[in-house]
Amino acid sequence: MTKEDEKAEKARKKAEELTILASRRGFFFQTAEIYGGRAGFFTYGHLGKALKNRFEQLWKKHFIRENCYEIQSNNILPADVFKASGHLEMFNDPLTECKSCHFRFRADMFLEDKGLWQEGLSIEEMSGIISANNLKCPRCNGQLSPVKWFNMMFPVPLGFDDEKAYLSPETAQAAYITFSREFEATRKKLPLGLAIIDKAYRNEISPRQHFFRLREFTQAELQFFFDPEDIDKQEKIEGWKEISKYKLLLFPYKEKKLLKISCEEARKKLELPALYVSALAIAQRFYLELLGIPPEKFRFRELSEKERAFYNRIHWDIELQLDTLGGFKEVAGIHYRGNYDLSRHEKQSKLDLHVFYNEKKILPHVIETSFGIDRNIWALLDIFYAKEKVGKEERIVLRLPNCVAPIQVAVFPLVNREKMPSIAKKIYNDLKKEFLCFYDDSGSIGRRYRRADEIGIPFCITVDSQTQKDSTVTIRKRDSMIQKRIKIDKLQEELGKELK
Ligand code: GAP
Repeated sequence: MTKEDEKAEKARKKAEELTILASRRGFFFQTAEIYGGRAGFFTYGHLGKALKNRFEQLWKKHFIRENCYEIQSNNILPADVFKASGHLEMFNDPLTECKSCHFRFRADMFLEDKGLWQEGLSIEEMSGIISANNLKCPRCNGQLSPVKWFNMMFPVPLGFDDEKAYLSPETAQAAYITFSREFEATRKKLPLGLAIIDKAYRNEISPRQHFFRLREFTQAELQFFFDPEDIDKQEKIEGWKEISKYKLLLFPYKEKKLLKISCEEARKKLELPALYVSALAIAQRFYLELLGIPPEKFRFRELSEKERAFYNRIHWDIELQLDTLGGFKEVAGIHYRGNYDLSRHEKQSKLDLHVFYNEKKILPHVIETSFGIDRNIWALLDIFYAKEKVGKEERIVLRLPNCVAPIQVAVFPLVNREKMPSIAKKIYNDLKKEFLCFYDDSGSIGRRYRRADEIGIPFCITVDSQTQKDSTVTIRKRDSMIQKRIKIDKLQEELGKELK
C-alpha cells in the first residue's frame, strides 16, 4: 500500500465509523432509505437536528452584529433573479457521459482523481486531455463523450402556465432583491447586514464526500452592504484597534504556505481591505474561540482568479482539516462581491437600486460571509470524534463543545429501586427548565455512560444510595471521566458555570 492509499483507507474507515454511529444514535440517515435512498440527500435525526439547531443559534449570535438583521425569503425564486445573478448562464459543472453505458459524471473530478486536473481548464481542454490519455468510462471502459457544461439549477414550473422559476442555489440572492426595502425600513443606514439561514439546492452531477456535495443543503449567509468608500477606513470599523493586532491563519495562493500574520499586516502585505480582514477575524474567532477548533486544523485559503466564483473580487475559503476527507476541506467562504449583484439586478429589473447615503447616490458593495451548515456539522463530528482506551475497553467519545452539544446533561438513577428513580426524575424535571437534558434508566450504569459519551453529553448526574442519606449526587465530566459528589441544590449553579 502506498502512503496515499493508506491515508485514503484511514479516511474511509473513520467515515464509515462515523456514519454507523450517526445512524445508530440518530444524528443522520440517508433520505428515503426505504426506497433505496438517493445520493446527495440526508435527513437529520433527533440528535443531528438538535446539533444543527444549536450550531445555527451560535452562528446567529456571533455573526448578526450591529445593524445586521435576519430575514426570511423563499426557496423558489423567479427566473429573472437567476438571469440577473448569472447563475443560469454560468453556474455550470463540466459533464462527460459514457457512450456505451450512459454513466454521467463530472469531468473535472475525474481528471483530478487521475492527477490530470489543472485550474481553469476549458471544456475543450478537458475533452482534449481525456482523448490524449485515452481515458475510458470508470464503470464499463466505454468511450467518453466530449465534455459539456451542465447547469446545476433545479427548475420548478410555477402554476398551470408553467412560468419558469428555480430552487435557489444560494440564499444570497434573496437578500439582494430585498436590500432596498430593508435599507428603507432600517432607517437608511450603512453598513447594513442581511442574514439568511435557509436551504440551497444544487443539482450536483456527482454527489459524494458525505455532506460535502449535497443536492439540498442549508446555508447561513450574511450579506454585509457598505459604502465602497469605507472599505479600507479603519476608523469606521468598530474595535479596529484590537482587531488590527489579531493574528489570522492565511494560506495565500501565491505563497502556498501558512502565514500567521495580524490583520494589519494582512492589509499591508496582501493588500486586503480593512473591512474584509475584519470579516476574516470574526469568522476565525467563531471557529477557534467559540467552537474550540484546534488552530492547526483551521486555515483561510485564497482562491486564484481562475478558481474563484464568477461574482467575487476577493475570495478566501475557510478550510478545516478533516480525517474523513483526508485533508483541508472548504466549509465556508468570505467573499467580496463588490456591487456585482445589485448592479445586475438593477439592469434586469430596470429599477434604480442606488441609495442616498452620506449625501451621495451609491450602489453599495457587499462582503458575504457564507457558511454551509451541513459541511460544518460533518466537520464537528469528524474533529470531535475520538476512540480511546479505558482500562481494557475502548470508548467512543464525541468531544463536542458545550455550546453545540445536542444534550447538555444526562440524569441517571443508579438502579431502578428504592427512591432513586423518583429523585432522579425530580432532578431531571428541575434541570430541564435550564438545560437540554436527557433521562435514562435502562441498562447498567457503565453502558449508560458509554451511550452518553457517544452522543457527546458533557455532564452525567447519577443518583445512588448515598443520595437518600445526604442529598448528594455524582457529577461526571465526559472528557476527563472524573466524578465528584455535589449537593443537589448546588447542581444548577455548578452546571450553569460550566454550560452557560
Ligand atoms: N453565496 C455564496 C455561495 O453560495 P459557495 O462557495 O458556492 O458560495 C457556500 O457556497 C458554502 O455552501 C460552501 O462553503 C459550502 O460550505 C456550502 N456548499 C456549497 N455547495 C454545497 C453542496 N453541494 N453540498 C453541501 N454544502 C455546499
